[in-house]
Amino acid sequence: MTDRITIRKPDDWHLHVRDGAMLKASLPFTARHFGRAIIMPNLLPPIVGVKDAAAYRQRVLDARPEGSTFTPLMTCYLTDHTDPDEVESGFRNGVFTAVKLYPANATTNSTAGVTDYTKIRPVLARMEKIGMPFLMHGEEVGPEIDVFDREAVFIERRLIPWTRDFPGLKFVLEHVSSKIGVDYVRSAAPQVGSTITPYHLVLNRTDWLGYGLRPYMYCMPVIKTEQDRRALVEAATSGDSCFFLGTDSAPHPVAKKLAVVGIPGLFNSPVAIETYAKVFAAADALDKLETFTSLNGPRHYGLKPNTETITLERSAWTAPEEVLFDGPEERAFVYRGGEQIEWRVVHGVR
Ligand code: NCD
Ligand code: ZN
Repeated sequence: MTDRITIRKPDDWHLHVRDGAMLKASLPFTARHFGRAIIMPNLLPPIVGVKDAAAYRQRVLDARPEGSTFTPLMTCYLTDHTDPDEVESGFRNGVFTAVKLYPANATTNSTAGVTDYTKIRPVLARMEKIGMPFLMHGEEVGPEIDVFDREAVFIERRLIPWTRDFPGLKFVLEHVSSKIGVDYVRSAAPQVGSTITPYHLVLNRTDWLGYGLRPYMYCMPVIKTEQDRRALVEAATSGDSCFFLGTDSAPHPVAKKLAVVGIPGLFNSPVAIETYAKVFAAADALDKLETFTSLNGPRHYGLKPNTETITLERSAWTAPEEVLFDGPEERAFVYRGGEQIEWRVVHGVR
């Protein structure tokens, strides 16, 4: 049994750090173990322009602990009115790394998202031309679509046609959550890659709904069946280059998680790399951990892997139940908070 493993420093290819006090409280959990992270633009209001993104990037940099070399990679929130010239100028001057699609009303802070897919085609054509990756919250939303089928319907109706119409465009199906999704990504690689969250690798919908309603397991895309979970574990631990780490860590104030209409998102950055290690160890695939956490993502984005390393050791600790972010009333519950965590980063912590 391996009890200690050294890997290249990982990157998080899907991260929400919010803004203000929540940014200051949540960013250090990522900065201490990860080299880079794709910062999601779904603030209120969303990050749609280059100037907004540059200012937000500065606020993220300012939230880093002293001495941290963590690099935020910014994204442009796609709307029906996004201007291809704005996207291109942001990409060319190094502010935007990618564009992010939120279908309107698919998830947290997505009301400004895309409602008419004919309108975004000029943006996709431009991204294809300049080599800019397209990140998708890949779910089709509508009254006739079952919430468990949203990913499959999106792939069928949107993604498959786009991969044909824009053969040079690089896609990321974010937080793939189903066996159908995994099978599709494999079939469409290397044009399509996919992030996998730690919690979709651990939870099934019986955990979420079967023993009382657990609002802290509510996220988009929703947690699916045990069969889906197993397909995700098989994909992540396979080493296949189309699958890579994206935590989708998404802190929310407690009151919003526990409201009558609860908000989707799981704050997992305090236990993320440790949880991936647990999943890979359980699958007897620790030899594939680095490929998933630190190599496949940069390759899909056309970037170099990090040169530093981190070392994980099998050594138990207890995750904090909550993180305070603006005095004692404002707090976010932590995914796996209060649980015993099996792995610990012992070297490479910033
Ligand atoms: C995310 C959030 O809270 O911003 N929530 C979630 O359930 N994953 C948004 C997203 O990535 O869908
Ligand atoms: Zn997300």
